Amino acid sequence: MNLTLAPTLNQYLIKKELGGGVSARVYLGVHMKSLEVHALKVYKTSYLSSIEAETQIHSHLKKHPCIINLESWEKSAPFTLPNDKKYNVGYSCFEYAINGDLWNVVTAKSGFSEPTARRLFQQLISALKYCHSQGVAHMDVKLENLLLDENYNLKLADFGLATNFIPNQKYFEMKGTREYCPPEILTSKGYFPEQVDCFLAGVTLFSMVTGKTPFREARDTDPCFRYLNSKNPIESNKYWAAQENQRQKDQKPPLSEELKDLITKLLCKNPDERLTIPGIEGHPWFKMAASSLDEAKKELE
Ligand SMILES: Nc1ncnc2c1ncn2[C@@H]1O[C@H](COP(=O)(O)OP(=O)(O)OP(=O)(O)O)[C@@H](O)[C@H]1O
Ligand SMILES: [Mg+2]
Repeated sequence: MNLTLAPTLNQYLIKKELGGGVSARVYLGVHMKSLEVHALKVYKTSYLSSIEAETQIHSHLKKHPCIINLESWEKSAPFTLPNDKKYNVGYSCFEYAINGDLWNVVTAKSGFSEPTARRLFQQLISALKYCHSQGVAHMDVKLENLLLDENYNLKLADFGLATNFIPNQKYFEMKGTREYCPPEILTSKGYFPEQVDCFLAGVTLFSMVTGKTPFREARDTDPCFRYLNSKNPIESNKYWAAQENQRQKDQKPPLSEELKDLITKLLCKNPDERLTIPGIEGHPWFKMAASSLDEAKKELE
């Protein structure tokens, strides 16, 4: 008999829904004995196999300050409604990121200052560098999958599409979020997963600073993507001039030349010419001063 007024999952009292996507809903759960608070990702029935795929990859990664911690998972556990109706669900239990996902913060603020974006981007690259060193590519880097803890530190989450990869081997399985996918996935040419993560990091960086996406789709039929990638400097300048015009109208400061250069090199159509993680780390924009913890907190709160 469920004696609570809220649903329960195993030993957890469900407090509220935190979010959800294609394969799952995520709830805030309080453990009824320890009172510890966790994020519980409950998989939709048709995506039960995702638990195995996601936890198999995620659980092999060691604790990293910029990766959300996976605490435990169960393929079948009782989800009980207050009226005592019971279902069996599969779920995984994560460290709770109290400040939610970056998509919500970016939309509320319509973009961050460059030093704060740099702080978060440096944390993202540190997480991706560690994943790649373990032979794991995330493949779904986007604002919705980047969480913020109590100190507004970034935590990479959602390994639902992550891939164990062998370096220098091409992959062909279509995956990712269409609007953010690099051209080599959209055109089914085959891809190197590390290069995909770098492209996605570029889309994410653009969105962190502007609150928008850099183009509709990474195809030549999309004028924004075509101009951004044009070898003709008049055309490529047009892309950034249009962005600056819009920023002026929105009364936002101009973007630095270093940021535009870094984003252009990450959103490069040719994956072999795209900036790699060591290239990102050596880029002048990446090495400039980032917001301190207090500055970032003040801006993101
Ligand atoms: N640990 C967490 N702490 C706080 N909020 C979280 C946590 N995990 C997930 N969320 C929220 O729930 C949303 C969905 O979580 P997640 O990305 O893991 O699932 P999903 O998008 O449904 O997965 P998939 O993309 O594999 O279908 C996130 O965007 C975020 O808002
Ligand atoms: Mg997600």
